[in-house]
Amino acid sequence: MGTKPSTMMPYTAKTTRREMLVSSLFVPLAAVNAISAASANAEFGAGGKPLVAYFSRSGNTRTIAALLSRDLDGDLFEIESVTPYPADYFATVDQATRERERDFLPPLKASISNLSSYNTVFLGFPIWGASAPPIIRSFLANQDFSRKTIIPFNLHGGYGLGNSREIIINAAPQASFAPGFVMEGLQERRTTELVRDWLKKSAQTR
Ligand SMILES: Cc1cc2nc3c(=O)[nH]c(=O)nc-3n(C[C@H](O)[C@H](O)[C@H](O)COP(=O)(O)O)c2cc1C
Repeated sequence: MGTKPSTMMPYTAKTTRREMLVSSLFVPLAAVNAISAASANAEFGAGGKPLVAYFSRSGNTRTIAALLSRDLDGDLFEIESVTPYPADYFATVDQATRERERDFLPPLKASISNLSSYNTVFLGFPIWGASAPPIIRSFLANQDFSRKTIIPFNLHGGYGLGNSREIIINAAPQASFAPGFVMEGLQERRTTELVRDWLKKSAQTR
């Protein structure tokens, strides 16, 4: 914790002009917003369409994935488990903790059929347990990411990236990594607690 992603993420292969452009794009989100779809497409054109792969439980990461896909004309891929996580937040926390403790990698519903056609993979996921969710390790272990540049984008509930960068670098050692993007998203735990608290109080006054 505490180390800046940019200093933690070595480039493991020759850094191309496009990769440098991509990584320079993804320091602040404002930079993404400032770039029109047309100019971004022109810059990305040479390397082909990027893939925007993401896992999202409560929608924060999905929102950014959709924005990236629109602005960069990238293909969207949702990373899903064969067995969906429970609808209840606290049940999901319990399940994710068990998976982590047992080093369990949830089987994926689908893999990317045409991964070879992408040079750049934007990889979005929320921070779970101060780390990457186990399903992200499943995703990276499932396919060969050699010669790809992976650009992570992450949402957290206020506690930062944890060891998620090390986890993804270790899970796809053949890939190159750009610094990526991180922001605080809505915290489902707090939302759940506040809404349930409100319901409890309003039940008393009914
Ligand atoms: C199982 C679970 C574990 C979480 N662990 C953390 C954590 O360790 N640190 C943190 O800052 N946020 C944590 N969060 C909060 C999420 O990272 C945050 O709500 C994020 O915005 C969710 O993104 P999503 O809407 O794309 O699922 C956790 C959420 C869940 C469901």
